[in-house]
Amino acid sequence: MKRIGVLTSGGDAPGMNAALRAIVRTGLSLEMEVYGIRHGFEGLLEGEIQEMKWSSVGEILHRGGTILRTARSKRFHEEKWQKHAVNILNTFGIEGLVIIGGNGSFTGGLKLAEQGVTVMGVPGTIDNDLGYTDFTIGFDTAVNTVLDLISNIRDTSSSHERATVIEVMGRHCGDIALHAGLAGGADVILVPERPVDFNAICKEMLRGKHAGKGHNLIIKAEGVDIPTQELTQKLEEMTGIDTRAVVPGYIQRGGSPSQRDRVLASLMGSKAVQLLYDDMPSRAVGISSGKIISCDLKEALEMERDFAQNMYDLAVLLS
Ligand code: F6P
Repeated sequence: MKRIGVLTSGGDAPGMNAALRAIVRTGLSLEMEVYGIRHGFEGLLEGEIQEMKWSSVGEILHRGGTILRTARSKRFHEEKWQKHAVNILNTFGIEGLVIIGGNGSFTGGLKLAEQGVTVMGVPGTIDNDLGYTDFTIGFDTAVNTVLDLISNIRDTSSSHERATVIEVMGRHCGDIALHAGLAGGADVILVPERPVDFNAICKEMLRGKHAGKGHNLIIKAEGVDIPTQELTQKLEEMTGIDTRAVVPGYIQRGGSPSQRDRVLASLMGSKAVQLLYDDMPSRAVGISSGKIISCDLKEALEMERDFAQNMYDLAVLLS
């Protein structure tokens, strides 16, 4: 394979730039030409494609976001636009494509793969919601960002002897809540994978209060099926404890990637290019038990994510 393309798609994630740097520089060292596609699938449809050089990805390793920009493309769901994208790739002579993104981006990639394009998926999303890989790029940074928030909120929450519900991102996956909750010593962790038991939450809040605890931290994943404001009011009514809601939102998606995300992104980005170089059919790159792996793109998308019940139980035990 001589000429490859790369795009970032869907929600940005810290470490996407590190992955891009690895893709471009690995490709160039294998004597490939690497083309950057701006604005995800939208930019592909518009032919926003330019050649990347070694220096094009200088000074980006430490930067959050994506220098290629990203987008969510509605029209790419339609077959006529998928065909149009294939034509554009052919026009530019791009033989293989690396897609850095999450679930939706991989699904788009699979559509192109079904039309004969070789597509390598690199998991870039803070959500950690892809079943075939233990971790996605951006997740570690997002969890660390939430941890910083928890520590700030803990100060003010303790001073006022309040409870705080912190709503974290993750779409339908509770991993950000679970990891940040365990690492941040949350009193209650609410994830979409487990039902909400109001009585149990209230008991925990009151137990903390009577044990002389100054604060109560409740981490709630956004995918939990009750609006955060409603939950907050209900808990305040049920316990009589002053309860506030905090929704950090996009703060979790920005920021300089952690060491872990930079290393993961570099390893995964490089692996994706190596797979193209080796003329492998479409695959998704991941990490399993500490090793960089790859599996068939379609199978990767079909794999269900295991919920870390042991981690959840431990968080409950230690709270
Ligand atoms: O997939 C990343 C993510 O930040 C999710 O956690 C969140 O549900 C969603 O994107 C928000 O999407 P948007 O950027 O379209 O508001």
